[in-house]
Amino acid sequence: MNPNFYLPAQNSTVASDVDALFNFVLYLSYFFFLLVTGGSFYFAIKFRKKGKREFTPGISHNTTLELFWTIIPTILFFVIFVWGFNTYLKMSIPPANSVEIKVTAQKWFWTFSYPDGAVTTNEIVVQANKPYKMLMSSKDVIHSFYIPTFRVKMDVLPNQYTHVWFQATQMGEFDLFCTEYCGKGHSEMIGKVKVVSDDEYAAWEAQNAAGSSLPPEELGKELYKSKACFTCHTTDGNPSVGPTFKGIFGRTENLTDGSSVVVDENYIRESILEPQKKLVDGFQPVMPTFQGILKNEEIDALIAYLKTVK
Ligand code: CUA
Repeated sequence: MNPNFYLPAQNSTVASDVDALFNFVLYLSYFFFLLVTGGSFYFAIKFRKKGKREFTPGISHNTTLELFWTIIPTILFFVIFVWGFNTYLKMSIPPANSVEIKVTAQKWFWTFSYPDGAVTTNEIVVQANKPYKMLMSSKDVIHSFYIPTFRVKMDVLPNQYTHVWFQATQMGEFDLFCTEYCGKGHSEMIGKVKVVSDDEYAAWEAQNAAGSSLPPEELGKELYKSKACFTCHTTDGNPSVGPTFKGIFGRTENLTDGSSVVVDENYIRESILEPQKKLVDGFQPVMPTFQGILKNEEIDALIAYLKTVK
């Protein structure tokens, strides 16, 4: 369904249930807001003091009225509770045939591991009309996994698994946000959900298995973006969370232990796999390891690319 002026499009099987309950509560609140404020104005005018000797009669209570304003809200409360609980159950229990994708959140990117061993960063590729379960954990602080058009949102915690599931009903590319403030790069912890047809998915799988056909420098440039290196390393010479990549190859860096190192192939490779081993002076030890995320060819490609950033 298309977006309206206050809600994004509905692109998953639970989206319309969530919106229906949301709209019910919203319009119910509008109704009672108007009833109460309208009533207040009306009574204030109708029963205003008109003469010096006019006093309010001593009404103590009205049993009928009190029953009404107790029973009606109680009924509404139970309607919302039962409706909400049913929708909650539907949203929290993944169907038995769900495909499980392991989601890892860390400062400041998302990693997705598929059952066939494929690994992607900041992009999930899924088939339309098929249930997926995201089994999620964090490597550092609390993040939160949010896909607005799916109406799916869940905190991602360190040392614990949480999960969400969804079944996309529309093909296309949708936003994925981190919605828990997690530090400097929080606003850049943005991903995409690509919902594709069965054929496109098979083609994507085959391409994954075959590896990239790009020349190493270009593949490295793509990886700089797709693996979210840019969140912490600029290419324009300005330091960010980490050292800039401009002119990095061959540069001599001073390390926190007082020694220095010339940036060569081995230092770059080591820094990708064991980032804290030789830390450049003036920077925090915050870089995550890319062990298990980058393949050997991809590390080679990144090295080739870094040689070109001058
Ligand atoms: Cu991760 Cu905000």
